[in-house]
Formats: sequence, C-alpha cells, structure tokens
Amino acid sequence: MQIEKATVKTHEVVGGDYRELVLNAPRTAGSAVPGQFVHLRVPRLDGSVLRRPFSIYRARDGVISILYKTVGRGTEAMVAIGGGDTLDLIGPLGNGFPAELAGETPLLVAGGYGVAPLSFLASVMDVRGTIFIGGASARDILCVGDFESMGWTVRITTDDGSVGEQGLVTLALDRWLAEHPEAKPVLYACGPDGMLHAVGQRAVAAEHTAWLSMDKHMGCGVGACLACVQRIRGEDGSESWKRVCRDGPVFDAATVVWE
Ligand SMILES: Cc1cc2nc3c(=O)[nH]c(=O)nc-3n(C[C@H](O)[C@H](O)[C@H](O)COP(=O)(O)OP(=O)(O)OC[C@H]3O[C@@H](n4cnc5c(N)ncnc54)[C@H](O)[C@@H]3O)c2cc1C
Ligand code: FES
Repeated sequence: MQIEKATVKTHEVVGGDYRELVLNAPRTAGSAVPGQFVHLRVPRLDGSVLRRPFSIYRARDGVISILYKTVGRGTEAMVAIGGGDTLDLIGPLGNGFPAELAGETPLLVAGGYGVAPLSFLASVMDVRGTIFIGGASARDILCVGDFESMGWTVRITTDDGSVGEQGLVTLALDRWLAEHPEAKPVLYACGPDGMLHAVGQRAVAAEHTAWLSMDKHMGCGVGACLACVQRIRGEDGSESWKRVCRDGPVFDAATVVWE
C-alpha cells in the first residue's frame, strides 16, 4: 500500500456510461495483482474528502487503468479528468483473487464493471475457461473483445435481451453447470451483491470453490474506519466482521454470511 501521484495518460468513453482512465502509476503497476483496487481522490470534488475505490483493470509497464461507470457525484466529477491532471491514489489495496488453479476449469462471472478485475485475472491465468457477462442492456456489456482475444469463451446475458441471451447471468451459468456435471470448476465473481449471493449459493450447494469480490461502500479504504464490514464465518464456525478493504475484497463464498 502506498500513496502515488499518478498522471493521466488517456481517459476515454468505452461505451454507455463507462470510461477507461489510464494512469502512469509505476509503483502501483509494479505490484498490483488481479482483484486489488486503488482508492482515488477525485479532483475538483468540492466538500468531499472521501476517496472512491476502483478495481485495477490493467497493470503493466508502469501503467494502470480503471474502468468506471458514472453513478453519482464522485464518478460524475471524474468525467472532467483530463490529460495532464495528476491524481492522488492509494494502492494497490486489498487481497487479490487466488489465480493458481491446479488444472480445474475457471468460470468467471461478471456483472457490469465487474468485468474489470476479471479481465486482469483472465490475463494472468495459465488455463482458459468461460466468462459469463451480465448486464441490464447491451450498454453494460464490456470487454468482450478482451476475453475473446485471450482465448476465453464468452457467454452474454442482458435483462432486456438487447444482446446475448435474455435473463440473469446465473441462467447461463446454471446451464453450463448442468451440461458439465463432472466438471470441478473454480468460480470467480465480481458484480452487484445480488449476483454474488446467487453465484455463491450455487457454488456452495455444488461444493465448488468460488471467490467473490465484495462490493461495499468504503470510507478510509485501509482498514481504519469499519465502513465496509462484511460478516464472515471462520473455520470453527464462529462469525466475525471482516473489513472488505483490508481483509478482502475477495472472499471464499463458503465463508460469506449473507444478511
Ligand atoms: C473494491 C471495489 C472495487 C470497485 N471497482 C469499481 C470499478 O472497477 N468500476 C466502477 O465503476 N466502480 C467500482 N466500484 C464502485 C465505485 O467505488 C462506486 O461506484 C463509486 O464509489 C461511486 O461514487 P460516486 O460518488 O459516483 O457515487 P455516490 O454518489 O457515492 O453513490 C451513487 C450511487 O452508487 C451507490 N454506490 C456507491 N458506492 C457503491 C459501491 N461500492 N457499491 C455499490 N453501490 C455503490 C450509492 O448507494 C448510490 O446509489 C468498486 C467498489 C469497490 C468497493
Ligand atoms: S473502508 Fe475503512 S475500514 Fe474499510
């Protein structure tokens, strides 16, 4: 964990409400692993001292990028970030996804901007598998070309059927699991809470390992404020609150206690 002054390399719309922000951040890029995030101070955001967390989408050659959706005051202010701006970020933060697979099939499950850390993960894995990408409509389906060019099979679902199959992302996942009853997949998921819950339930019921990147509102991002806690079950069955920023954001689905 370190504070870094990152200069903006490019900042472009990638579709719909999503933008990719590419930053020269050699210290963060040098140690980032998939699933980690940066905590960004948004420039020109009057009256707010809170940073905003974003998964690391790419990290190589001294450069990182994030893929973000404008949803509120902070991300709307980010739209004005331009070439030449210097941003204050803390990162890389949190624990990444375990990427060692020992031969099992990886299944990635993404909702919306959840594709960002999973694309980074896919790029470092030795084996290729299937990515299930879900979103409200075609505008929320990102990074398909990234995964295809890396040799991954892509399955798309949208709520309105504007691209891919109409329905929830778990529809396509359920079909894959039914068609491969002998497989021992390892699942990796990033997206909204409801999707993570549904993926986690399926994995636990079928005794598959699943790693979930939890999406919680954050304050400090470094373990001090307890704004981001999640109830987690330990090996002895006892439950305790863990900090998503510091103990996560990635947790074993079998340990997550859903409210
Ligand atoms: C570990 C982690 C990684 C993330 N990675 C990404 C990423 O790669 N790309 C991306 O676009 N976003 C990502 N997010 C979410 C992002 O941090 C929020 O969208 C952002 O902080 C919203 O700031 P805002 O000021 O624009 O919105 P606000 O005005 O604070 O909120 C606008 C709306 O978004 C909701 N919201 C705010 N934060 C979150 C959150 N963490 N989860 C769910 N809903 C939220 C609010 O309840 C509100 O409805 C990540 C969050 C976490 C915890
Ligand atoms: S955001 Fe402060 S402890 Fe996690």
